[in-house]
Amino acid sequence: MRVLAALLCTTLIATAAQAAAPEPVAGSGGMVVSAQHLASDVGADILRKGGNAVDAAVAVGYALAVVYPQAGNIGGGGFMTLRLADGRTTFLDFREKAPQAATATMYQDAAGKIVPGLSTDSWKAVGVPGTVMGLEAARVRYGTMSRAVLMAPAIRLARDGFVLGQGDAGVMALESAGLARDPAARAIFLPRGKALTKGDRLVQADLAATLTAIGDQGPDALYRGSIGAAIAAASQAGGGLITREDFSRYQVRELKPIECDYRGYHVISAPPPSSGGVAICETLNILQGYDLAAMGFHSAAEVHVMTEALRRVYVDRNNKLGDPDFVSNPVAQLTDPAYAAKLRAQIDPERATPSSTLGPPQAPTEGRNTTQYDVLDAQGNAVSVTYTLNDWFGAHRVAGRTGIVMNNEMDDFTSLVGAPNMFGLIQGANNAIAPGKTPLSSMSPTILTKDGKVALIIGSPGGSRIITITLEAILNMIDHGMDVQEAIDAPRLHHQWLPDVIYLEPFALSADTRRLLEGRGYAFKDDELWGIAEGIVTGAPTLKPPTADGQGRVLSLGLPVLAGATMFGGHDVRDGAGSVAPVN
Ligand code: GLY
Repeated sequence: MRVLAALLCTTLIATAAQAAAPEPVAGSGGMVVSAQHLASDVGADILRKGGNAVDAAVAVGYALAVVYPQAGNIGGGGFMTLRLADGRTTFLDFREKAPQAATATMYQDAAGKIVPGLSTDSWKAVGVPGTVMGLEAARVRYGTMSRAVLMAPAIRLARDGFVLGQGDAGVMALESAGLARDPAARAIFLPRGKALTKGDRLVQADLAATLTAIGDQGPDALYRGSIGAAIAAASQAGGGLITREDFSRYQVRELKPIECDYRGYHVISAPPPSSGGVAICETLNILQGYDLAAMGFHSAAEVHVMTEALRRVYVDRNNKLGDPDFVSNPVAQLTDPAYAAKLRAQIDPERATPSSTLGPPQAPTEGRNTTQYDVLDAQGNAVSVTYTLNDWFGAHRVAGRTGIVMNNEMDDFTSLVGAPNMFGLIQGANNAIAPGKTPLSSMSPTILTKDGKVALIIGSPGGSRIITITLEAILNMIDHGMDVQEAIDAPRLHHQWLPDVIYLEPFALSADTRRLLEGRGYAFKDDELWGIAEGIVTGAPTLKPPTADGQGRVLSLGLPVLAGATMFGGHDVRDGAGSVAPVN
């Protein structure tokens, strides 16, 4: 657990912070929060040079592809939720699509059984990447700076290399067996035949050349030019399906975000092909009917209602949602507070509802090793990005001499209706594989506003747990008054309908709370830590206003509390390498 940080500010602390979390980092002129400190610094530099939050988000996206190659990417895809200073909200979907040669049964053998590893550890696992086109769409539509300026830091970091910290080196060591199997990946990440360690310099000369070509020619270098051709050739040589035509067909979608209201806050999140916004809004709508603050953080009463809400939401998530170009998503119904009230009425206040009694037996799957970053500029433009290769280092394959790590996002499709994916998630036919289709996601880049101003930017990696991690951070701040760092650090629980267990991070429940819940019919699975959530809150470190008698929480870290001009960043430091970069 965290060591309580030294209290740097004494004047404005009404009561000492109770939680074992460091103080959030404060800024007044903008902020970038990401999983890698060099990428956060790149974004903060763009803000200092006069770029807006979208410019910074584009630069961070390219930088993370270099300094966080396990999830940052140009060989994968993702989502960007935007809330502009003028009040407009929008969403860019640049998630991967299935190649034209993909089929619903491509991961099954002749007997209709799933072939182990085919959807995760093969060239057939690779979807057509969207990140480069997505970042360019963001820049052209909402940014202000040239591609050359925004890509220069990433090109420099790839060409000159960067020194690995403990978190950077740790994940490479963890993934070294997979990386060693691919000669191109081995040459970059295991140049001396073994994993690089802390203090080593990672140089990615091929990636620098690829980024330079994209900088010069734009996305055409990838989607119509030599880089796409090189990926298609590597895919074909490795038994994959991606062709040059798949690249030329790829399009970014600009979609309307999912929006809902929770206890005075307006929530803006990811629409299908993500399940994230729908699931978060459906859960918040159900929980709105309970006094979670009075129940208390992770009390038996709160865990009961949260689990029962999540159980029902994941039935809908796994069975009713998919790519909006292929299936009709009942978004209006699922996010309707009246529907939530109906679900709430079904919740037995004393007993767990067995999952087997809810819906057809179909569960979901997804890679957990995505990454989240947030940017807020001084004008109030807010950007929340979640993008991914699916697993750490995706399919553990680098395409020839492009230096691009390829995703294994195809595993997010339903390979066989009713069979669990890598997250144990069982999904339905709406998410079946089809040519040109995007797999259902849980990625939930989210922005909350209050009284017309950005209040919170939040999101996380974590596969099917992304929804719960993001949800819990919101509940921790709005209902339990935690500051942004405490909300991110607090141990989490997760329930996804099937399997019918509550997953627990270490220390998520006390022994007696657990016993109370067992008495109500709940089963538990102790798990490791999940997610690397990233958050920015404005005005004060906590959303909960101080009480009139001054016995509230920490108000600010010595900065004037001017809503919209003061912001506080919280980051999940579990990877040891992330950071909050404030602009003052
Ligand atoms: N691959 C993680 C997600 O899309 O949710």
